[in-house]
Amino acid sequence: MQIHKIAVIPGDGIGPEVIAEGCKVLECVARLDGGFRFEFDTFPWGCEYYLKTGSMMAEDGIEQLKAYDSIFLGAVGFPGVPDHVSLWGLLLTIRKSFDQYVNLRPVKLLKGAPCPLKDVKREDIDMVFVRENSEGEYAGSGSWLYRGKPHEVVIQDGVFSRHGCERIMRYAFELARHEKKTLTSISKGNAMNYSMVFWDQIFSEMSQEYPDVKTASYLVDAASMMMVKSPEAFEVVVTSNLFGDILTDLGAAIAGGMGLAAGANMNPERKYPSMFEPIHGSAPDIAGRQIANPLATVWAASQMLDFFHHEEWGKRLLDAIEAVMLEAVALTPDMGGTATTAQVGDAIVSYLMKGKDS
Ligand code: NAI
Ligand code: MG
Repeated sequence: MQIHKIAVIPGDGIGPEVIAEGCKVLECVARLDGGFRFEFDTFPWGCEYYLKTGSMMAEDGIEQLKAYDSIFLGAVGFPGVPDHVSLWGLLLTIRKSFDQYVNLRPVKLLKGAPCPLKDVKREDIDMVFVRENSEGEYAGSGSWLYRGKPHEVVIQDGVFSRHGCERIMRYAFELARHEKKTLTSISKGNAMNYSMVFWDQIFSEMSQEYPDVKTASYLVDAASMMMVKSPEAFEVVVTSNLFGDILTDLGAAIAGGMGLAAGANMNPERKYPSMFEPIHGSAPDIAGRQIANPLATVWAASQMLDFFHHEEWGKRLLDAIEAVMLEAVALTPDMGGTATTAQVGDAIVSYLMKGKDS
């Protein structure tokens, strides 16, 4: 029996509510499969932990997490703890310590998902973002001089290494080749005359190695317009840390909303655990009311199953999400329903148990 050891970090706000459903669904999958099982260990880290201890995670937290095959994260952040403290103290620390340099974010309009765009066919929105996740604009490099003085100055560096650009682009090229899809690079070489010129240059160099992959390259401002006007132009997309962060929220908006958007933070070499999460935050405005949509977390669970080479099950979870949305019986208020978070999780489970195709 194959065992997947999962470190569960429910985090803050709606994090624990949605992650409970994610674990419920994974348990069900393992039971139905019979060939593998999950071992979940839950870590109480996040803002409450911070208010008690002064740090977002245990001092040897990274050491503890190393023992796991993957990390399942809800969301972190809560009023009372500055967002840069909660983000850097947990999420970014994990991404960086475990060299999770690929952030894979599907932007795919599933059957039954709401879409605010007019005149767009469902099949037109089917892209996957490969976001650089270890350096770039979020490298955390910079300085704050003369703090509090009238002449204070802040500098936030963007850090783009050849190693970092090449490995993320190679991942994207390999994915595009494997899936027989086009690859689009999104940058801003006109205004950012060092980092993005460098990015564009490496992209063009690498495209020589992949003559079979059709490529395109757009500026980020034009690309954001095109994502709305002609989303069918994008299949596999590779972009920097900041641009990927922003564009995938736009992607979430056109592909069913934040309640559906998931992301995988991956160390493709599997030297360290990868981390799977819904991309929404802790939603303090609706926390504790059992109305958070758990479908993004179920999608993150699907990505985890893919990563463990259980792609059939990964696909089945997406089918289950589609079936639940089409049926429209068990949906949370953000999708126009009246169901609780747990009822949506139960609906996914009962679809899986029936084993029917959608
Ligand atoms: P948010 O994603 O938490 O909420 C934005 C809006 O979407 C809210 O109206 C919320 O109610 C709604 N929403 C989000 N997820 C939902 C779900 N599953 N079902 C139904 N509605 C949902 O973003 P916001 O408000 O900017 O940030 C809140 C906190 O979360 C902050 O402390 C922020 O730093 C943190 N955050 C954490 C992230 C993470 O852990 N990966 C990512 C983004 C924000
Ligand atoms: Mg974001």
